[in-house]
Amino acid sequence: MRDAGALPLGLTRVAGHRGAKLRAPENTLAGFKAAKRLGAGWVELDAKLTRDGIPVVIHDETLERTTDGAGRVGSATLAEIRRLDAGRWFAPEFAGEKVPTLEEALRLIAAEGMGVNVEIKPCPGRERETAEASIRVIRAIWPRTLPAPIVSSFKRASLEAAQAAAPELPLGLLLEEHEADWREAAERLGCKAIHPNWSALTAGWVAEIRQAGYASVTWTVNDPEAARRLAGWGVDCLITDAPDLIVPAIG
Ligand code: G3P
Ligand code: MG
Repeated sequence: MRDAGALPLGLTRVAGHRGAKLRAPENTLAGFKAAKRLGAGWVELDAKLTRDGIPVVIHDETLERTTDGAGRVGSATLAEIRRLDAGRWFAPEFAGEKVPTLEEALRLIAAEGMGVNVEIKPCPGRERETAEASIRVIRAIWPRTLPAPIVSSFKRASLEAAQAAAPELPLGLLLEEHEADWREAAERLGCKAIHPNWSALTAGWVAEIRQAGYASVTWTVNDPEAARRLAGWGVDCLITDAPDLIVPAIG
């Protein structure tokens, strides 16, 4: 792996997935702080719109798994979502954590001096709108003194909208598998980073990504042995649920 100082896009070698998903409730302010404490320099989070069009930080389409609410995120207003507890399900000491707005999350992450990968995770039919609203927040509050947030998505419509709205922001193409058109798609969408599922990566693909001039960011790596292998192939950034396991493995 390249020296940390030489990583593209201001990345660090380890980023916390949804904060530090194994150590604190995912996609909460407590989770982002935990990621920092456990040694991650960047965090990844998921952005989705409320019914009233506010970007909030939550992974699932529905509220049940990570809050004490019920129903679809996209059917609830921000005011309704803000009444929910997003920490108690994980452990009693996290009771009182809220579903953060994207703005709150970015303010906290910036105050911690971290980088951020904003994954656009739209409800169906809101691909463009979710990207555009998230970018408005990033532009309004992200400090120029920190690396620009990487905006990533599995949804190509979201990346197209992001490219049009904010050509200055680096985009990341999320891939579940080795999709045959990855290179063409990345070029068309103006991406700067490729974000493959780690289990689909090979040494050869990592080399191709690098030769084509893209940063490589892979997820979700929780096994120290796999982390060492991926680092040895030259992957730039490993997204993990447990920075405390992965930072020492590749340090
Ligand atoms: O951005 C990497 C990773 O978070 C993508 O998958 O489902 O955890 O959002 P998911
Ligand atoms: Mg994600």
